Amino acid sequence: MIKLAPSILAADFNVLGKQIKTVEEAGVPYLHIDVMDGNFVPNISFGIPVISSIREKSNLIFDVHLMVNEPERLLEDFKKAGADIITVHAEACTHLHNTIHKIKKLGLKAGVSLNPATGLNVLDYIINDIDMVLIMSVNPGFGGQAFIPSSLDKIRDLKEKAQKAGANIDIEVDGGITPDNVADVLEAGANVIVSGTSIFEGDIAANINRYYEVFRKF
Ligand code: DX5
Ligand code: ZN
Repeated sequence: MIKLAPSILAADFNVLGKQIKTVEEAGVPYLHIDVMDGNFVPNISFGIPVISSIREKSNLIFDVHLMVNEPERLLEDFKKAGADIITVHAEACTHLHNTIHKIKKLGLKAGVSLNPATGLNVLDYIINDIDMVLIMSVNPGFGGQAFIPSSLDKIRDLKEKAQKAGANIDIEVDGGITPDNVADVLEAGANVIVSGTSIFEGDIAANINRYYEVFRKF
């Protein structure tokens, strides 16, 4: 089942609640929430108070992408704020195995994200412990960047790796995805599509429909 995860990083924060309602009414299952600490990535986005506030008004599955160093310090706080899925970066965790198990113990789904230059080998001994892998198809930190083409090979390799390991994981891809290149991403094996700019710029409902037109072919 293919899932669309609009990234609110690209939303108009002046009318954030209204825009979340629009994506919810368009029938998307996930809301992708990018938390940046200005340390792991060279940008600061928003954090716990914003998530708590939008949680009161939305029933979407909150897919929280933590671009922060040593996120294990903050897992409980993000759970309390309303996260359903917490994804941490392999590069940001000294004790990745421990961090994943802490997320699972909180009763949440656990994802591991990999920067474009990080190999899949970091997943070797944890792939059966996690629910999702998030392949970054841009260098994290900013919306509106161009999709890195080598991500497609990485998605294919990950799909094969998961099959070999008998791991039933979601493969999420994040960065530079548009209705024009999403077919390539799906063909490579992804099933969760993050999209910021190409959903929130212009007519949100129409943009989502353009994605759904492509999804119908898969
Ligand atoms: C980048 C974020 C992405 C970003 C995607 O660091 O993780 O989720 O918002 O935005 P677009 O779709 O504009 O590349
Ligand atoms: Zn993200």
